[in-house]
Order: sequence, then structure tokens, then C-alpha cells
Amino acid sequence: MKYILAITGASGIIYGVRLAEELGNMGHDVYAIFTNGAKATAKYELGDAIERVGKSSKAVFNENELDAPMASGSARFDGMVVAPCSMKTLASIANGLEENLVSRAGLVQLKERKPLILLLRETPLSTLHIMNMLKASIGGAIIVPASPGFYGNPRTVDDLINFQVGKVLDLLGIQHNLFRRWSGPEGSGN
Ligand SMILES: Cc1cc2nc3c(=O)[nH]c(=O)nc-3n(C[C@H](O)[C@H](O)[C@H](O)COP(=O)(O)O)c2cc1C
Repeated sequence: MKYILAITGASGIIYGVRLAEELGNMGHDVYAIFTNGAKATAKYELGDAIERVGKSSKAVFNENELDAPMASGSARFDGMVVAPCSMKTLASIANGLEENLVSRAGLVQLKERKPLILLLRETPLSTLHIMNMLKASIGGAIIVPASPGFYGNPRTVDDLINFQVGKVLDLLGIQHNLFRRWSGPEGSGN
């Protein structure tokens, strides 16, 4: 399958990098986009982010490359993930602003009725952030807050990252073993 992965300037660049690696290892074709904001944030969080994503991707684009394949609906991708997704990129998509390759590709996915998953990272949230989430959700985007569960007894930061990456793969319908699933109690036997 063929996926668009956009990495924006929210904290959590590692989510996008790990997603590229998982999809690439499974044999999917990843077409990545780094915004300028993502490059700035990566300097603080993960210096080799672009290199790592490059190794797992068919191609890596800049936000200003509006002639990239994902800028057109005719290129037929199976879905798009924005991970991490900044509040700025959320606002652009929610309000239909096709101002760079990420918002253009996201809005193309929505018009083509293809999955668009936004892995958001911000806290706390203003009312405007929440309104943009609602707008994007009404428009067809899937809102995924970066919000790991603790019921699987995570032990490491990697466990927390894998939980988030696994949740995104679930939404794309891709099988994985990145976290232990909740199976409920055994029952009281009564
Ligand atoms: C180290 C660092 C961490 C940031 N973390 C966040 C964040 O968690 N969420 C967010 O919405 N913006 C965050 N920002 C701000 C965005 O990078 C900024 O709004 C940028 O313009 C987003 O543009 P983009 O969506 O085109 O990448 C952060 C910036 C820096 C430098």
C-alpha cells in the first residue's frame, strides 16, 4: 500500500519517524513530507529524523514542493498520516487553507474520501484548537490525540511511542504487535 506521512513542527517528531520505520519495514511505500517547522523542532528532539525517515521512504519532500505527487488527487494514495500534527497544520486543514504541501495533500485526501489521520500534540488546548479539531473531524479527518494508555503497563519511552504508532496503524487497518491489547478480566467465575 502507498501512504503519505507528513511530519510537522509539534513536539513528538519521533512518532513520525517510528511510523515511517514500521510502514517501511512492512513493505509499504511511504511518501514523506517535512515542514520547515518539523525541521526546526527535530533539531531539539531528534537530529537524525530526516535521515531515518529517508531510509524508510520512497521519497521525502519539503513543504513548498507543491508539484509533488500527493498534491493531486490523481496520484491515488491509500491514506495520509500527519504525525506529529501541530496546531498550525490542524488549523490549515480545518479551514481549507492549501498553503503548503501538507495542508494541500491533507485536503486532497479528504476530497478523495481517503483516510486522513491527525496525530495531534498540544496541551492544554484553547477553545480555538478544540473548534479546529471539531471542524477537521466534521470534514472527515480522524483526530488522534497523542495520549498513550497505561493499561498495558508500559515500562519504557519506546513502549509509550509504540502505543501511539500502533493506534495509528490500527486506524489504517494494518496488523501489528506494537502493544498488548486490552482483553478484559477473566471474569469472576460466578
Ligand atoms: C521545540 C518545539 C516544540 C514545539 N512543540 C509544539 C507542539 O507540541 N504543538 C504545536 O502545535 N506546536 C509546537 N511547536 C510550534 C510549531 O513548531 C510552530 O507552530 C510551527 O509554525 C508549526 O508549523 P508546521 O505545522 O508547518 O510544522 C513547537 C516548536 C518547537 C521549536
